[in-house]
Amino acid sequence: MVSAHNRVAVLHGVNLDTLGKRDPHHYGTLTLAGLEVQIKRWARDLGLVATLFQTNSEGALIEYLHRLSERADAAVLNAGAWTHYSWALRDALEIADVPTIEVHLSDVAKREEWRRVSVFDGLVLAKVSGKGPEGYREALEIVKRELGV
Ligand code: DQA
Repeated sequence: MVSAHNRVAVLHGVNLDTLGKRDPHHYGTLTLAGLEVQIKRWARDLGLVATLFQTNSEGALIEYLHRLSERADAAVLNAGAWTHYSWALRDALEIADVPTIEVHLSDVAKREEWRRVSVFDGLVLAKVSGKGPEGYREALEIVKRELGV
């Protein structure tokens, strides 16, 4: 049987479950549940099937990444603050070997110095930052092109 090759895992890391309570200037007012509804809809409209996962446990995300290639053909990853220092996550994403788009709701290049560092540099297919929820739609469009869906 030929598999569909249209599965995308949309992964959220630390503190992203608190969207809606975080500084609206950077993160808007949408909750994670609201954001995930939009992501599912955008994915479906693009012919993709999205699986959603959020965790505040770095180990849980690493274990998810270890099995990523069994569940998904591509990934969209907002790792939150881990983006800036978790070399273990970078290694896990490299092991996963699945085309990945890095997303940030806020414009990390225009905030504190430490947010300009991304452990995923050079590993991800593209980085979308500072576009709010719309950034996920852009990331899904890149996934669609990459997978040839
Ligand atoms: C974030 C940016 C990170 O610097 C921050 O730690 C987050 C969210 C974003 O989506 O803008 O938790 O990844």
